Amino acid sequence: MKIGILISGRGSNMVALVDAVKSGEIPDSELAIVISDKRDAAGLAKAQERGVETVVIEREGRTREEHDAEIIAEMKNRDVELVCLAGYMRLLSPSFIQSFPNRIINIHPSLLPAYPGLDVHERVLAAGEKTSGCTVHLVNEDLDAGPIILQCEVEVREGDTVETLSDRILEQEHKLYVNALKLLSQLQSP
Ligand code: GRF
Repeated sequence: MKIGILISGRGSNMVALVDAVKSGEIPDSELAIVISDKRDAAGLAKAQERGVETVVIEREGRTREEHDAEIIAEMKNRDVELVCLAGYMRLLSPSFIQSFPNRIINIHPSLLPAYPGLDVHERVLAAGEKTSGCTVHLVNEDLDAGPIILQCEVEVREGDTVETLSDRILEQEHKLYVNALKLLSQLQSP
């Protein structure tokens, strides 16, 4: 299973996936490329340190379709079979989705369908929720709305701040994303 990862920032989920592929925890898999739409994404250096090829494709000066077409071309040139979004802060165009049917997945820091979109932890805390969590799902044309692959519940504690809650959920995100890829690699093997 050749994997391509899209990032925009820190890249801690990307690191979890790269390390799990490299250690053999996700079997029969290979990391083909990490692409960022931000030149200053901290994740780029982390991918390079791990020997993964990186490419920056900025949106500036391109339409959404042109931008996505360039990303698709880089992925297809390397025979990528599965695209993982890991903190990629853009909505994919219909042509991107159609280029990888049911082969694009995303991680989101809530128990979808609750709390799609941005500022999740702020909204969870403001609503006084007792639990939150994270979700790995297939990507379709709507924001954070595709079929769910795996979820993990995380307790919201008394006195939690956005930082403490997001840290606790992020720890689980890394495990959940690796588990989702394990599952997909098993489905793919003969
Ligand atoms: C994670 O919380 C992920 O669920 C969300 O964006 C954040 C990215 O963090 N989509 P990182 O770049 O993987 O560290």
